Amino acid sequence: MNTIYILFLFTFLSTTSYASVNDLCVADFKGPSTPSGYHCMPLANLTSDDFVFHGLVAGNTTNSFNAALTSAFVTDFPALNGLGVSAARLDIAKGGSIPMHTHPGATELLMMVKGKITAGFMTPTALYSKTVKPGDIMVFPQGMLHFQVNSGVGTANAFLAFSSENPGAQLLDLLLFANGLDSDIVAKTTFLDLAQVKKLKARFNGKTS
Ligand SMILES: *[C@@H]1O[C@H](CO)[C@@H](O)[C@H](O)[C@H]1NC(C)=O
Ligand SMILES: *[C@@H]1O[C@H](CO)[C@@H](O)[C@H](O)[C@H]1NC(C)=O
Repeated sequence: MNTIYILFLFTFLSTTSYASVNDLCVADFKGPSTPSGYHCMPLANLTSDDFVFHGLVAGNTTNSFNAALTSAFVTDFPALNGLGVSAARLDIAKGGSIPMHTHPGATELLMMVKGKITAGFMTPTALYSKTVKPGDIMVFPQGMLHFQVNSGVGTANAFLAFSSENPGAQLLDLLLFANGLDSDIVAKTTFLDLAQVKKLKARFNGKTS
């Protein structure tokens, strides 16, 4: 009886000898991604460097948005795997903006460092918008359509925190105008003029017929 019990216990312990995966699970990108995250790197392979990310430097804002988002999501920083947090850096040149978008998987915190940003989000019944300055923090609840516009006289810079290691992003303009739908259908379903739809499709590399 005791022997059976001990054998059982031994089996249990040996199948849970990876209990430390509960503490941390640095992503091993050589393994497949699963709905619950990536496979874990063996603990023996990890060093302190795995838990530090050096890449949140200013991005190149010479693009059609005059803005750059530099990300530290799980795919950039494997140590975030399974931890439910990530970060990014936002640089918006004068006149630039981050267009209307949502993060289906995360609430976003914006921490202002430099300049002035007018940001906001909307629900079906309300708009919440504010111009924020260095030291201010603004929150965008998960899934809400939101935007950030540089409303200052110089470059604006903020850091972002997300409540997911993989927040995802859906940019409204890209969804609407970078697709293969006929312009006519896009015009009918957005109530925009056909000419304007064609202009936006050209700008965002959508099918222009
Ligand atoms: C872990 O380290 C061992 C020994 O250096 C190496 O053979 C193995 O490929 C590493 N595993 C991963 C997932 O990097
Ligand atoms: C920024 O991007 C633009 C457009 O792609 C490019 O011409 C320019 O060289 C880049 N600047 C830097 C500093 O990489």
